[in-house]
Amino acid sequence: LSTPYLCPMQIQGTHYRTIWTEPGEPGTVYTFDQRLLPFEIRIAALKSCEEAAQAIEQMLVRGAPLIGATAAYALYLAAREAPPGVDALPFLREKAARILRTRPTAVDLQHAVRRVLDTVEANAWEDSASAALQCAEAIAHESAAQCRAIGVHGLELIRAHSQSKGGRPVHILTHCNAGWLACIDYGTATAPIYAAHDAGIPVHVWVDETRPRNQGSKITAFELLQHGVPHTVIPDNTGGHLMQHGLVDMVIVGTDRTTRRGDVANKIGTYLKALAAKDNDIPFYVALPSSSLDASLEDGIREIPIEERDEEEVKYTWGMEEGKLKKVLTMPAESPAANYGFDVTPARLITGLITERGICPASEAGILSLFPEKRGL
Ligand code: MRU
Repeated sequence: LSTPYLCPMQIQGTHYRTIWTEPGEPGTVYTFDQRLLPFEIRIAALKSCEEAAQAIEQMLVRGAPLIGATAAYALYLAAREAPPGVDALPFLREKAARILRTRPTAVDLQHAVRRVLDTVEANAWEDSASAALQCAEAIAHESAAQCRAIGVHGLELIRAHSQSKGGRPVHILTHCNAGWLACIDYGTATAPIYAAHDAGIPVHVWVDETRPRNQGSKITAFELLQHGVPHTVIPDNTGGHLMQHGLVDMVIVGTDRTTRRGDVANKIGTYLKALAAKDNDIPFYVALPSSSLDASLEDGIREIPIEERDEEEVKYTWGMEEGKLKKVLTMPAESPAANYGFDVTPARLITGLITERGICPASEAGILSLFPEKRGL
């Protein structure tokens, strides 16, 4: 797809991807430490498979496509650690099992791990580290291309909305961070927003704060600010009120796993926004790169594993005080807290899936019309 729109993503005017290697520095993978954003922009160097696995587990990196790419690079680092002179595959399979345990909901992780193992196996005559690295770079490159294409397709939805509003700003609500920091470049849910903004279409984004880790107020707001996109951060419970008062034109969210019939797992709270959107006749779109499609599952509520994280994330929050990052308790320390990471939005609440191949209904027929190769998987 060629389009004049959609600049690659930038921080303070410099283009970055979220994960990369540097020529002449084998064995090091660079990424941003997202736990520190927006307060500090720190580049982290991952130098072993275990460091990369911990980066996923501890959410130094996060977001479905980035989790997948990091897992692929983790296996590249593992291949460099394999004992010389023996078949690397059994060693890599053991490391893969460790990586697969880091985060259960985003299916990109499983897809990336399987793809690297298959590539190393198919290229047994090659150095396994080079094969794994090439595969990781291909996964990252394809993910960026998928997000860019999602932007191009989603842009047309926003353009049509803008025309129907006589050019007044289109108000888009998004949840969590399905932006370029969750991916490799552009983002999924944010790609159409960036494309519209770059095309001169006035947009304004309602950014759900997204408790407990605040990926919306910390990361999506940071991204939009860097790109100059007008936005307002809202507490998570505000969306319904805004929708009732005509202040939301559409919702666009990302996905960590979408089943073949179009049920979508995304950050906890997404389902409530979909319900409110349905009740107020507001289109609710999910930006879906095919890397996040799990055609082996049908019923998302019954079948998608939902990550449960430490209650500490609910009890405490991180913020800045006088130039120092501080962790503060926000509730009685003795009260128990529950921390489900994701929920499932049933396909019936979703207006459409914005994919790299176009927009389709959230249904098996809709998905197969764009991805016929997924039939029977
Ligand atoms: O727990 P996180 O921060 O990894 O969750 C991120 C999300 O839920 C995103 O919306 C999702 O990964 C879609 S990513 C483009």
